[in-house]
Amino acid sequence: MSNVLITGSKRGIGLEFARQYVQTGWQVFATCRRPAEASDLQELAGRHASLSVHRLDITVPEDIRAIAWELEDTPLDVLINNAGVYLEKGTPALGGLRYEDWLRTFEINTLGAVRMTEALLENVARHDIAVTEFSD
Ligand SMILES: NC(=O)c1ccc[n+]([C@@H]2O[C@H](COP(=O)([O-])OP(=O)(O)OC[C@H]3O[C@@H](n4cnc5c(N)ncnc54)[C@H](OP(=O)(O)O)[C@@H]3O)[C@@H](O)[C@H]2O)c1
Repeated sequence: MSNVLITGSKRGIGLEFARQYVQTGWQVFATCRRPAEASDLQELAGRHASLSVHRLDITVPEDIRAIAWELEDTPLDVLINNAGVYLEKGTPALGGLRYEDWLRTFEINTLGAVRMTEALLENVARHDIAVTEFSD
């Protein structure tokens, strides 16, 4: 069975990725910041034994180390660095820049994705890729 790890699976595109992959027969490691609040994802996990939910904030190195340790020798076919934010939405241009939002965005969208990739690089390198067709 091919497998995929998806960050930010509680809602939006990440949740839909989780849904489509698991329905296509993949094993899904669905991560989110607060599993207890991820009701749609938990409901999906309840219907599919091949979907597991894992707590992970991609800005927290201990969380990343924990998921890497959990997956230790598991080859990973696909890593989807989906988790991200759009904090600058509606931010005025020069004169009104919110530097905290800018830094937080960089921490999540850039450093977080790179940290995840670095941590799971060996798992992905051991992959055995399969072809998948998604529904509309
Ligand atoms: N939708 C678009 O039109 C669009 C366009 C361009 C790029 N994107 C990118 O595509 C991705 C998914 O978009 P979306 O529309 O599905 O976004 P969304 O509904 O806002 O979902 C983003 C997900 O990322 C998670 N997340 C945020 N910070 C995190 C962190 N530090 N650690 C772990 N997870 C974190 C959120 O967790 P919580 O649920 O806990 O908040 C949420 O589940 C994002 O990276 C977004 O920037 C989307």
